[in-house]
Amino acid sequence: MQRFVIALLGASAVFAAPTTPVKRATVSGSAEGFAAGVTGGGDAAAVTPATLDELVSYLGDKEPRVIVLNKEFDFTDSEGTTTGSGCSPWGTGSQCQIAINKDDWCTNYQPDAPTVSSISYSAAGVAGIPVASDKTIIGEGSKGVIKGKGLRMANGASNIIIQNIHVTEINPQYVWGGDAITIDGGDMIWIDHVKTSLIGRQHIVLGESSSGKVTISNSEIDGTTSWSAECNAYHYWAVLFLGSDDSITFKGNYIHNTSGRGPKVGGKTALHVVNNYWSDIDPTGHAFEIDAGASILAEGNTFDGVKTPVSPQEGKLYTGTDCSSALGRACVENTLTNSGEFSGTDSDVLSSFSSNAAAAEKNASGVPTSAGFGKI
Ligand SMILES: *[C@@H]1O[C@H](CO)[C@@H](O)[C@H](O)[C@H]1NC(C)=O
Ligand SMILES: *[C@@H]1O[C@H](CO)[C@@H](O)[C@H](O)[C@H]1NC(C)=O
Repeated sequence: MQRFVIALLGASAVFAAPTTPVKRATVSGSAEGFAAGVTGGGDAAAVTPATLDELVSYLGDKEPRVIVLNKEFDFTDSEGTTTGSGCSPWGTGSQCQIAINKDDWCTNYQPDAPTVSSISYSAAGVAGIPVASDKTIIGEGSKGVIKGKGLRMANGASNIIIQNIHVTEINPQYVWGGDAITIDGGDMIWIDHVKTSLIGRQHIVLGESSSGKVTISNSEIDGTTSWSAECNAYHYWAVLFLGSDDSITFKGNYIHNTSGRGPKVGGKTALHVVNNYWSDIDPTGHAFEIDAGASILAEGNTFDGVKTPVSPQEGKLYTGTDCSSALGRACVENTLTNSGEFSGTDSDVLSSFSSNAAAAEKNASGVPTSAGFGKI
């Protein structure tokens, strides 16, 4: 028997590929909550784009694709530089963001703000790369970086997985300089283990069109910046949910060094906020903005030294544990250490989550270590 096994190993060694096996990027885990069942590019053969054009083409074409990013794609200079005017509604200090006069925004909405006659910024940053339906975008190790341009899913794009990438350095000095992840009219989209940093406008935005079912998990929103609307080191425009009929699971994310919109929830949005971790939020700012139209169930989250977890609180929020009749289990209490109040009694929101609630762990203390890219 032993001899037989040795013979077999010997034979296979002869035919084995001479190189050491390449670690292939594959989707890790599966979506929980609303986007459960998303398949992205499914079992399409993986493609590894070598150039910016190839990446853009794979993301936007009509084929189901698994797109593996094994290097940094730097779009900063890919569309040249735009020079225009701007304004300073938030102050004129060197730490203040300047707004681009995009579509006459300064002229129309900030007529009293000091104008800035000439600013230059990367043209590529302003609009994200269109991502079509049935795509998996996945970074290899900690190599998958997209710099200077975001990703945009719109006009009904559906069945998309984005996992383990870092989107960074999109005109961070300039409001209207660009967003990192945009969904505006879509369905069944899973954003997982994505890090965003140094963004001009929104780190993540779901626009006013319905984006259907979305899961955002294990991601890191790093608001650390040298230019902000508060003229300090905390980015204001973190996460914005404005969809007209959206169901979002927001689980295991790490939101830090932000001062607002963390997230801002409005439109008609059902949002399950579970096991996220907030820390280093600007003491003069806040985490949540809950506008009318929001229905939020928040459980098992940790607020670590967050002076103002929510402001304003106009929409519906439930933070209690009495969830058995809707979820078939109790909800998990949130943990607030050295933090202000985060409390809501709107138990009627529970019916929005009865069939698609993600599981809730008792303790989110590991999230700062596990969230973000390069961790899977
Ligand atoms: C985030 O903010 C905290 C203070 O709230 C600061 O100590 C820390 O250095 C900031 N993080 C980074 C990466 O700058
Ligand atoms: C969560 O887990 C950490 C690390 O194990 C522990 O220090 C902390 O006390 C726990 N928190 C809660 C609320 O159970």
